[in-house]
Amino acid sequence: MGILSVINHKGGVGKTTLCVNLAQALAILGKKVLCIDNDSQHSMSNRLGVKVGAVNIRNLYRGEISDYNSFLQSAVFESAVPNLHCITSTMALCNGDISSVSVLADLINNSFISQYYDFVFIDNHPGLDNLQRVSIAASTRLIVPVLLKQQSMEGLSEMMELLTSLSVPTEKIAIIPNVVENLKDQKLMFQALHRLYPANIPPATLIVPLDRIVETVEREQKVIFLDRLQSSTAAVAFIKMIVYLFPELNITFDEAYNLFKKARDTHRSEISRQNLQRQRGTNESK
Ligand SMILES: Nc1ncnc2c1ncn2[C@@H]1O[C@H](COP(=O)(O)OP(=O)(O)O)[C@@H](O)[C@H]1O
Ligand SMILES: [Mg+2]
Repeated sequence: MGILSVINHKGGVGKTTLCVNLAQALAILGKKVLCIDNDSQHSMSNRLGVKVGAVNIRNLYRGEISDYNSFLQSAVFESAVPNLHCITSTMALCNGDISSVSVLADLINNSFISQYYDFVFIDNHPGLDNLQRVSIAASTRLIVPVLLKQQSMEGLSEMMELLTSLSVPTEKIAIIPNVVENLKDQKLMFQALHRLYPANIPPATLIVPLDRIVETVEREQKVIFLDRLQSSTAAVAFIKMIVYLFPELNITFDEAYNLFKKARDTHRSEISRQNLQRQRGTNESK
């Protein structure tokens, strides 16, 4: 099982977007995926269309759980994408809730999560506190999205220092240049990243481009791979990312892309079927 934290102590660098899209992509490929929302703004839960649960991650952090599996029965919700589930956070979630840094690792390793799911994705709030430490301690890999901008790069070195101080092995960290407007203009930043963190940067073709469709599907609560597969450059980048980050899937980009096309076609047929049914219902009631 892969347990991935998407982290960066800066906000607005695309953490939640990357987390949601990678998780949805893997679920569409048939993997069982659990998303854990570790941000009091609960944007990932919102994005997955899951309402904040009365039982949520805060109950775990505060040490209020006596039995992991019964906690999970109340805390895990389905999302609109089959195979993709979510444990929500809550607005009240804060640093002081953490009873022990290993609390999340303990849940994952000692419950049915470790047997049932193929991947766990943890979305984090911006910050460098105990909430992030809990997430890092539970994860087998860390994904750090960065903007190719001066301020973002400065923030990154602090983030990497924190990870070093927590003895996170370098090979666990993947830095993803995110929301890239123009790789030609931002080339110097990209080269600097390569110089500073040669082991953590994927090949130059693996960046997530700025793509307005990302915001459109977010607004419309849609799934980029099912609704805008062919028109979205970001969707292609997310699929490339999946193939690159998870060699254990043993799948090429073309094979993956074809599976997404099939999933998109099935989704379209289902929408048409529902529309037809609705239309018939309206005609009959006339
Ligand atoms: N590749 C992209 N292209 C265009 N907009 C993006 C992209 N990735 C993220 N965004 C937008 O950037 C904003 C911040 O992204 P978000 O994932 O919420 O960042 P964070 O979780 O780091 O605060 C959102 O409005 C999101 O739609
Ligand atoms: Mg976020």
